[in-house]
Amino acid sequence: MEKKVSFSSKFGTIAVVAGSCIGLGNIWRFPYLAGNNGGSAFIIIYILCSLTIAIPIMMSEFVIGRSTGKNAFGAFNVLTPKKRWCLVGLFGILTSFFIFGFYSVVAGWGISFIQTAFTDGFTGRSPEIIHSNFINYINTGWKPTIAALIFIILTSSIVIGGIERGIERMNKVLMPMLAFIIIGLFLYSTSLAGFKEGMDFLLKPDFSKITLSTILAAIGQSFFSMSLGMGCMVTYGAYIKKETSLPSLALTIGLADLSVAILAGFAIFPGVFTFGIEPTSGPTLVFETLPLVFSMMPGGNIFGIFFFILVFIAAITSSVSMLEPICLFIIQELKLSRVKSVLLISFVVSILAVFCAYSQVEGSSIRLFGQNLFDFLNNATDKFMLPLGALLIIIFVGWIANKELVRNQITNNGNTFSKGFSIYYAFVRFIIPFVLSFFVLNLLGIIKW
Ligand code: TRP
Repeated sequence: MEKKVSFSSKFGTIAVVAGSCIGLGNIWRFPYLAGNNGGSAFIIIYILCSLTIAIPIMMSEFVIGRSTGKNAFGAFNVLTPKKRWCLVGLFGILTSFFIFGFYSVVAGWGISFIQTAFTDGFTGRSPEIIHSNFINYINTGWKPTIAALIFIILTSSIVIGGIERGIERMNKVLMPMLAFIIIGLFLYSTSLAGFKEGMDFLLKPDFSKITLSTILAAIGQSFFSMSLGMGCMVTYGAYIKKETSLPSLALTIGLADLSVAILAGFAIFPGVFTFGIEPTSGPTLVFETLPLVFSMMPGGNIFGIFFFILVFIAAITSSVSMLEPICLFIIQELKLSRVKSVLLISFVVSILAVFCAYSQVEGSSIRLFGQNLFDFLNNATDKFMLPLGALLIIIFVGWIANKELVRNQITNNGNTFSKGFSIYYAFVRFIIPFVLSFFVLNLLGIIKW
């Protein structure tokens, strides 16, 4: 059994939690979702969801974790004698596996693209060549598989080092680098001819484009981006010091996460418009459309190298936060050592990743519910599993957990945020469960809007 550990400093805490949140969700997913859902109208809803729904949920996950010091499964057992609630934790652990499985494939693409950028693989290539290069790469099956496995090994080697010496130490170095690179890329984008058009696309809302599915996509994305709904923040909560103010931590992280998503949008769309490319190409936007932009842009290879290093950094600081919750669960509940837990998990995730990568090969029969395995996991987790997990967690904190315990955690025993508590509690007890139930019931087809 490991002894109780916590993050060593305030900067360390912020770096680790922000590292989890800021990831492929911001740099790969957010731009293509914004592109597909009409740009700024989607972004406004996304910002609203993040501020009013996601931040209170993050605070609630921290409460569960910090008050118990336990993994996402065990924490529920400590807080209520009703055994059924720990199933929520188990559901979260299953979700972590699923996300980690497809996430490592996308991160692997990032690794391969760093190599392409270094070997000058973008400059002067025609759109057809760029497109067919990507398709050929995916269709080999083995290339994305090897890259994904390398990524899983790298993630595991960090998590084996533990919280302080592994995860915290890495995040303290990589997160400032990430901030640096993204601001640099953004500044470069301001010099492109399509900058204004890109800005308009991201800033001038057309509310007629908003439908129920836009709102759903925004909610799902805000959970994915802030690592909510599967107990990841419960687990990190267990490492937060008791002096740290949970509301201000969640607010800081929420704002940082939003800023990076929007900065990534600003770094990407000016190029997309400058070179007359459609912003609606979907999940391949960052890997197909951007190389095209790089091929035409002065200094495109250098931009490309930095961009894909950014993708890699963002991905690995997040993937450790998918592995750690499963790992803490196995250490505390099944009493295995950290090394053995990590090896066990990476073995299982590697199998899933191999299937994911091969499911994208043309004509592959690795399909579930009419989609290839990769698309299925990508959609099922953020559109269904995360909202459902988040709903159950918020009902737990609002209705099952002891109110005084929640108050003491949120206000640090009455020392901060005392006035805000009743607003927070009203959101957690009524507003958020109501809104989320509406969406979850809609998804399940029980009500139709
Ligand atoms: N938030 C990360 C991103 O934006 C992904 C992530 C890490 C995640 N841990 C998670 C998503 C837990 C959901 C749940 O890329």
